[in-house]
Amino acid sequence: MIPADLGRVVTVMQNDDKTVTLDESIEVRRSVRDVFDYIAAFHNVQEWDPGVKSARKLTPGPVAVGSEFEVVMNFGLTLTYTLVDMAANERLEFNVSSRLFDAHEEILFCGDEAGASVRYIARFSFREPLGTFARLRPESMESVGKQAVAGMRAALEDEPAAPVASRATALADRLVLPGIWKFTRLGYSAARRHFKPMSASLRGRHVVLTGATSGIGLAAARQLADLGATLTLVARNEAKAAEAARSITAATGNDNIYFELCDMSLTADVHALCDRLLQRDEPIDVLINNAGALFNPRGETPEGLEQSFALLLLGPYILTERVQPLLARVNGRVVNVLSGGMYSQKIHADDLQSEKGDYSGSVAYARAKRGLMILTEEWARRWRDAGVTVNAMHPGWADTPGVVDALPEFYNVTQRWLRSPDEGADTVTWLAAAPEAGKVSGRFWLDREQHPSHLSSRTRESAQERARFLAALDALLAGGVAKAA
Ligand SMILES: NC(=O)c1ccc[n+]([C@@H]2O[C@H](COP(=O)([O-])OP(=O)(O)OC[C@H]3O[C@@H](n4cnc5c(N)ncnc54)[C@H](OP(=O)(O)O)[C@@H]3O)[C@@H](O)[C@H]2O)c1
Repeated sequence: MIPADLGRVVTVMQNDDKTVTLDESIEVRRSVRDVFDYIAAFHNVQEWDPGVKSARKLTPGPVAVGSEFEVVMNFGLTLTYTLVDMAANERLEFNVSSRLFDAHEEILFCGDEAGASVRYIARFSFREPLGTFARLRPESMESVGKQAVAGMRAALEDEPAAPVASRATALADRLVLPGIWKFTRLGYSAARRHFKPMSASLRGRHVVLTGATSGIGLAAARQLADLGATLTLVARNEAKAAEAARSITAATGNDNIYFELCDMSLTADVHALCDRLLQRDEPIDVLINNAGALFNPRGETPEGLEQSFALLLLGPYILTERVQPLLARVNGRVVNVLSGGMYSQKIHADDLQSEKGDYSGSVAYARAKRGLMILTEEWARRWRDAGVTVNAMHPGWADTPGVVDALPEFYNVTQRWLRSPDEGADTVTWLAAAPEAGKVSGRFWLDREQHPSHLSSRTRESAQERARFLAALDALLAGGVAKAA
């Protein structure tokens, strides 16, 4: 039974000649399952313990007895945490070793769907001279423990405010160079310092994700599976889809990973996928339009459509429009993976398939991404009353097979500055899962922060151009392509 005055921190401290014991308790209004899942993912400890600089899981596979974590403290000490015992929703037990002390930490959970209490008991055996200091200054140890559990409680509070756009960010974006710097791994590291903890659980939530066999999509799928989501991976290659599903289950222990085959550049395939999803009649909590490629030279699909337009714009358009009723049933979210390249282009409503003038793969790609940004704004406006939120994001420049294949020269020059696919995927996962991200719609994001959708008035379409653009997509959705093929 959870007491009424949730949110307390209780500290008890004992110390004797050999050990110092901290005993702290908190209570939060979150289900005990969510709380357990969040704390068990101990590589997230730096989100809630202000004393931790960084943490990572050292052992592969899901969190289980024997899992090891490396935790680097702000003052430079590196700790190794080994999970020595666990019982789901009840208990985690760690042995901790470092050059200054050894410790045994027990984290005990109890509660139900409405609330949970967490008790944290740590027994430290210090090596000298730190042992004397810790015994003589028990308040310093006590404050470390208090801060950690207070951080845990704050991270588990579930009512963060909607994020607001920063004028300084918009200005920096317009100055181009500071803007571009943000796309690199240094930009990610700087942004990460301001991330709020994300303790959301996606258990029981259904996420449909295109392009999950590689790069950013595969990293996002793994992160979402780690949060407990049921995934439908949309892929064009069966062997790759099966391998992606297998590797995600192996890494996370989540076996609710399914796949659907579909070439997202073929409208007939996309319609068939929509038919299957509608027939399954399973609500979609999150749809992520991520599949992408950059095409040089210009080419057409077997249906006679220019490839960039077909894959990056028309495929997501048909899929999103048609499964909208499945999203609307559960206040679903749409996440569109775009690119900073769209800043350079305006939509050409009368040349959506790059038939006029010289073809450039980068321009066709950027125009298609611009088109998906327009759809993001349009869908957000149209579907507000239906409770569906739609956002777009830029993953930054990430080291993925897509970049190596399509932009080898760019890759050679920028390789050491590129982010990891996980870093690129972080905002996809945040937009899909964070409670605060569900409170904003129609925006463009990089590293969990809103950015303007235009940096120059030259890329803004007029109301007439927008209407022509939407009418052209509508006409193709209505079946024109499939009939012509
Ligand atoms: N990496 C970056 O720096 C960066 C920067 C800005 C934006 N983006 C965007 O991020 C998204 C993911 O790119 P990435 O860098 O992760 O590239 P990637 O490693 O090449 O992954 C692309 C994914 O899309 C899938 N795909 C491609 N064509 C498809 C089709 N016709 N039907 C179904 N699936 C298809 C690929 O499947 P296969 O495995 O079968 O090829 C793969 O799963 C893209 O939308 C891209 O525009 C990336």
